[in-house]
Amino acid sequence: MISQSQSVKSRTIERIVRGTPTSDGAGVKLTRVLTQDLQQRLDPFLMLDAFGSDKPDEYIAGFPDHPHRGFETVTYMLEGTLRHRDNHGGEGVLAPGGVQWMTAGRGIVHSEFPEQDHGMMAGFQLWLNLPGKDKMCEPGYRDLPQGTIPVVRTAAGVTVKVIAGSSQGTAGAMTREGTQPVYLDVHLPAGARLDEALPAGHNAFIYVYEGAVKVGDPAGSGNSAPRGVKKGEMGLLSTASDATGVMIVSDTDSKLLLIAGKPLKEPIAQYGPFVMNTHEQLVQAVQDYQAGRF
Ligand code: CO
Repeated sequence: MISQSQSVKSRTIERIVRGTPTSDGAGVKLTRVLTQDLQQRLDPFLMLDAFGSDKPDEYIAGFPDHPHRGFETVTYMLEGTLRHRDNHGGEGVLAPGGVQWMTAGRGIVHSEFPEQDHGMMAGFQLWLNLPGKDKMCEPGYRDLPQGTIPVVRTAAGVTVKVIAGSSQGTAGAMTREGTQPVYLDVHLPAGARLDEALPAGHNAFIYVYEGAVKVGDPAGSGNSAPRGVKKGEMGLLSTASDATGVMIVSDTDSKLLLIAGKPLKEPIAQYGPFVMNTHEQLVQAVQDYQAGRF
């Protein structure tokens, strides 16, 4: 659908972070964009990994069985296919453009393996925290194939895929009560501008995966002057209380994730794939996993 941009007072870029190359699972190469030291600042988000390779050696071994408790994982595929299986009988294939929204809750053990032995594999995995009261909820997941995720097209030619939350008045594929996440995949042609409203009080960031953009009011100067964010960089958006959204202008054809969520403001205790509120709950998580209670 065609939509006119709403007018917003823009947040600015507070800080730019470059991802850290690492590997996970059985040796899958990836870039950890949101690292543990940013969990308080970007509450309720715990982690963002970007993966992208056309070298089978860098992804073929996949992610063998591993547990999670206390949060949600959101996997968004750009290219390639992954098959997932879990110990609660869930199984499916993640295809290009699709999202898997998995609620680990009180515990899930799952695996993710490539359904391909050559070609490109690319996408993102975001970890979204659960409120303390929901950490021990029943586990589950939803597969959101490409065609089920709303796409908004603005008059400026910007397309916004609305995975969660809303954009330009269009509701996304997912809503979550506790964290009210906004998860948008934004494609801007060169020179195009997007004005996107964001809930006040949400922590927010962008991750540019193609091209380069400037973030902030184009008419701004001094501290409020727009700042550039380019491919491979995460830009943390300021939390100024009078800002109602964000303005993004592309230097060249660009693609980025715009992600925002309502902070939980609860203690975060993490031990690998378990994220709880206290140390005691982590000890319990390890005991429950080792005893086969997931
Ligand atoms: Co996992």
